[in-house]
Amino acid sequence: MKKIVMLISILIFAGATFNSFAEDEGSKTEHMMQHNKMQSINDDRISLNLSPAMKQHQLSNMRSHVEAVQAIVGLLAEGSHEKASHIAYSRLGLTEEMKKMCNSFENEAFKNLGLAFHKSGDILGDTLKTKDITKSLRALNTTMGYCVQCHAAFRQ
Ligand code: HEC
Repeated sequence: MKKIVMLISILIFAGATFNSFAEDEGSKTEHMMQHNKMQSINDDRISLNLSPAMKQHQLSNMRSHVEAVQAIVGLLAEGSHEKASHIAYSRLGLTEEMKKMCNSFENEAFKNLGLAFHKSGDILGDTLKTKDITKSLRALNTTMGYCVQCHAAFRQ
């Protein structure tokens, strides 16, 4: 008899513990769902409606842009202005490839922002060549202003 009472108490206790655990998990999932919903509601950037292939292509270009900025800052610190200038022209400037890419976008505002950004990359290349560090940092600031401006307005 004692054994049966003990067994029942154990079962009740285990059941209660399991229930409270399940509740915790449930409210956690609910909280995360709420959070994701809030994020998509708050993300009022314009979508470019890109195809999966274009998305990958764009992101890999973007990763190259951020690498270029890092390389330029590093080279500037070492006084390698010529090398920094070369990276600005080739990786951030308005090359034929970048011109074609920007012009392939349907969204006019995005296209113009992209073209203006790459033109600023060429101006950055010109400025770096002068070896004037203050002017170079100012030009880099202008170019990076386009990164910030575009990311605030557009998403894939
Ligand atoms: C004309 C628009 C535009 C400009 C200019 C621009 N980007 Fe982007 N970038 C985008 C878009 C759109 C995305 C995708 C964002 C999204 O969907 O959330 C992106 C994504 C990125 C990513 C994420 C890459 C990944 O693999 O997830 C990085 C890093 C990035 N940009 C760096 C830069 C840097 C650095 C600059 C400037 C030197 C720059 N971008 C300029 C439009 C732009």
